[in-house]
Order: sequence, then structure tokens, then C-alpha cells
Amino acid sequence: MTTRTPLMAGNWKMNLDWKQGLALVEELGEQLQGVDAGKVETVVLPPFVDLRTVQVAVDAGKLPIAYGAQDISAHESGAYTGEVSGAMLSALGCTYAAVGHSERRQYHGETEQVTNAKVKAAFAAGLVPILCVGEPLEERKAGKHVEYTLAQLEGGIEGISAEQAAKIVIAYEPVWAIGTGEVATPDDAQEVCAAIREALRAMHGDAVADAVRVLYGGSVKSSNVGELMQRADVDGALVGGASLKAEEFAKIAGFQG
Ligand code: PGA
Repeated sequence: MTTRTPLMAGNWKMNLDWKQGLALVEELGEQLQGVDAGKVETVVLPPFVDLRTVQVAVDAGKLPIAYGAQDISAHESGAYTGEVSGAMLSALGCTYAAVGHSERRQYHGETEQVTNAKVKAAFAAGLVPILCVGEPLEERKAGKHVEYTLAQLEGGIEGISAEQAAKIVIAYEPVWAIGTGEVATPDDAQEVCAAIREALRAMHGDAVADAVRVLYGGSVKSSNVGELMQRADVDGALVGGASLKAEEFAKIAGFQG
């Protein structure tokens, strides 16, 4: 069991228009009434076009929900058609920005350099990056999953300060477990989450390693989150499919009680 405040983040991906997003966030607010907000941080990552609506709903209802974006531009402002800057996300009250999700890497060709630039752009705008790392199936089969994931971690956080490293959230998401229903075993999740923490310890020392939150992601549901959360280095979950239903996601957030 983690000694840090657990973080449960719902990645809506390209689902739910603003009306549907509003309905989900309001229902989630209700469902979270039974969950102690001091014991777990609940976060949603809606599509960009839903963020303003989510902001208004969270503010108006004083809902115990933080929110952020699924991606962020590496650039500050200007002629980057289609991009959304960190400053724009901050102005919407976002706390987080996911960076380097495997779907961004796979379908949008995002390299390690781009991911690293996005991590820095998030910090520059006062946002906390949720840096996603994790191996494809071949690397897992070859026994190279730790090595592969740590290389992504090192590339993603290159050049950030110790202070920033203590704030960042790392999400270990093995690609073969995302959207497949094939969740990693708690031992698999623990192995890589612990390796991530130890790598941070080697780079930035004990205070950073002990503070940073490392999430597991990939087919997390209310039925498997409890055993994942029993492991010492799993500090929460990045949840895709199961975050689209308020009741189910609230059960995930309430895993402890
Ligand atoms: P999943 O997605 O929970 O649907 O497997 C996780 C993610 O991609 O963040």
C-alpha cells in the first residue's frame, strides 16, 4: 500500500462531447460523495472541447475533481494550427496534462524529444505532467520491459529539476494492456513501478523518489484496482474505458473504503 496520496485519473480519450462530458462529471461528483477526498485525488482528462464545461461544473458544484488535458503543445504560442498551449490549459483551471501517451507515440509519431519538450511546456505553464511510459508486447516477451520503460522515462524527463521531478506523475502503461482487457498482474505492475522509482532515486535522490507518484494504467477496473493498490510502489491508476462510467470510476476512486 502506498504512503503517498493515491491518484486516480480518468482518460476519456476521444469520447464524450461537451454535453455528455457534463453529464459524466456531474454524476461523478455525486458518486464521489461517499469517497474521502483527503484520501484519494480524483482527476478527469476530457477532450479539449469539454474542458470549459468541466471547469464550470466543477467550480459551480465545488466537486472533488481535478482535471487536465490529454495532450499539450510543446510550443508556447503562435502559428501552430490545431495545437493547444499550456497557458490556455492553465487559464481553464487545469492541474494536469498527460504527455507521451502510447496512442500519441503510436498514431502521431511523437518522439522522445517531443515528449520531453511537452513535459517542459507543462511545467512552464504551471501544470503537472502525467508522463506515460510502457513497453509494447515484443519488449515484454523479450524480457526487456524494464529497460525499455526506463529509457522512455529518462528521455521524457531529461533536463527537469529535482523540484519538478518530485511533482511529476509517471504512468506506467504497458501497451499490451491498454484497452485489451488484459491487465498486468500486480507483481508486473509493482516490478516496473518500483524500477521507475529507483531510477528517479538514482537521478534525483530520496526525497524525490519518495514523493513522486507512479501510476499503473491498462485495463484497470473496480474489480482489479484493489489488488494493484496493495503494492508498495503503485500510487494510483490511469484509467481509460472504465472512467467513462461515473459509478465504475467512483468505485475505482473509492477502492480503499
Ligand atoms: P484502458 O486505457 O483503461 O482502457 O486500458 C488506459 C489508458 O490508455 O490510459
